Amino acid sequence: MKIISGPASKELAEKISAETGYQDIPVAAKVFPDGESYVRLDGSVEGEDVAIVQTTCPPAQDSRVFQLAFLADAAKRAGAGKVSAVVPYLAYARQDKMFLAGEGISVQTLARMLKAAGIDELLTVNIHSENALQQFPFPAKTTSAIPLLAQYFVERGFKGAFALSPDKGAMYIAKQAQEVLGGDAGHLDKTRDRYTGQTVQTAEGLNVKGQTVIIFDDIISTGGTIVGAAKILREQGAAHVFTACVHGLLIGDAEKRILDAGVEEIVCTDSVPGKNSKVSLAPLISKELKAQV
Ligand code: R5P
Repeated sequence: MKIISGPASKELAEKISAETGYQDIPVAAKVFPDGESYVRLDGSVEGEDVAIVQTTCPPAQDSRVFQLAFLADAAKRAGAGKVSAVVPYLAYARQDKMFLAGEGISVQTLARMLKAAGIDELLTVNIHSENALQQFPFPAKTTSAIPLLAQYFVERGFKGAFALSPDKGAMYIAKQAQEVLGGDAGHLDKTRDRYTGQTVQTAEGLNVKGQTVIIFDDIISTGGTIVGAAKILREQGAAHVFTACVHGLLIGDAEKRILDAGVEEIVCTDSVPGKNSKVSLAPLISKELKAQV
């Protein structure tokens, strides 16, 4: 297998190449003056299976999706065998059904596009809902980076910390973290108005007084969920509050708002490269790719 370094995940792809020993194929990428994307494989993939590593996080998620599709097409035309897409953050995964009349299913459109471009299978990380994977017309799998995030805290001396999920549906995330941290786990409850997007968070029967609490989530976008959770935890007497998420989109001033709410540290993975991506997905993805061969 060869690793194609998508422009959005160059560093991660290089780490995966180093970890697996699979050759890294660089990509020449540019943007034309009119804003259109151009990519070119800078190495041979003829007769080889390839894994294109390309996250599709903001900013420019649409361009990143097109770069991924163009790379798959280029790989197939260059004689590659199986083309796998490794997409740590998968754009549009949250629109996996029609929530309101008149909507489409964005992730299904994306999946069909990727199929048409030549992608044979997809690996992503902590997709928001497994239902999104059902929309793909080829094998699509998600794997969890939560144990890696929890391990980050163990290595910093937080063994036994309380693992909290900001809503009940994501309790499985808190449980995955709890297995590594070895402390208690629990969740808040969150309801969202589909029209206004407003959320309400509550804590029923949660006891975190005096505890170090780490809020684990799949994604931090505007930061509203974590800010609200941190406020509740402070009211409940938590001694220290941290947060860890797989996909740290941290739109606008999300980071500042979270820190201002009393969260001591934000820890994310390199699915979204940035200053808070302190945990690399390279070991997790490398293991998955090795298992495929
Ligand atoms: C929602 O169910 C997700 O797991 C996240 O909690 C949510 O998408 C985070 O969004 P925001 O940071 O905008 O509150």
